[in-house]
Amino acid sequence: MKEAAARVAGQERVGNFLFVRFHCPSLAERLHPGHFVLARLLPTWDPYLRVALFPTHLAPLSWLVYVPHDRGMIRRILEHAPPGTPLAVYGPLGTPFPEVSPQSNVLAVAQEPYVPYLLGLVQRAGATANVVFLVERTGVALPDDLSWLPPTVEFRQVQRQQDALAAHVHRLATWADYVFVAGPRYWPSYVARVLEDVWPLLQPGRAFAIVPDGISCGLGLCDRCVVEVRRGEARACRKGPVFDIATWFGQARARRA
Ligand code: FES
Repeated sequence: MKEAAARVAGQERVGNFLFVRFHCPSLAERLHPGHFVLARLLPTWDPYLRVALFPTHLAPLSWLVYVPHDRGMIRRILEHAPPGTPLAVYGPLGTPFPEVSPQSNVLAVAQEPYVPYLLGLVQRAGATANVVFLVERTGVALPDDLSWLPPTVEFRQVQRQQDALAAHVHRLATWADYVFVAGPRYWPSYVARVLEDVWPLLQPGRAFAIVPDGISCGLGLCDRCVVEVRRGEARACRKGPVFDIATWFGQARARRA
């Protein structure tokens, strides 16, 4: 695991989401949407932040990391870290999202609290592909002003109620070449079932889920990130956090086997 020197370069908020800007040019080129990094505050090992930080707004000199709302102490540390605070950053870690082909149709689907985990992908894919970003609203986090999304991305919302999201995904998946989702741990299996209705031969390489819940040590040591997959369990920090839905959660292939 490579260590890179970084500095805090400010904080930004999108609704209730907190992002911290890391100035860290040496890592920028190797980061892709879906990767995560670990960090510790210098000059000591304490506090080691013990949270997976997901980069977004990737730029050559600096990038933002999302600080999850349920990490109170860490959130307070990073929220108040003044510009210039030194950090050691470790990464990139995990399996990132794949690149999408230019001009392809991309459906990105997130439950509202998980929007930050898809932002990097939406920003990057939006530069060359046709992207629809569908968010299941739970009423807690997103601002009304959505100017932070790339202008090329079509933003759609659906309220959280029975079968509403599945109906939207079902309809949009007939248009999409790729589907990317971010949500709670049960989402990949749930989305696999919906997609297998639309694409009876759900093949690897078309649909991917990021499962960020519980990633803490990031090293396969704490078992907090275990996800139920088709054949047992997998640690999201080691096998994910991005999983190919057909390979890991698809049922059609299992039935045919
Ligand atoms: S985060 Fe500790 S085992 Fe995955």
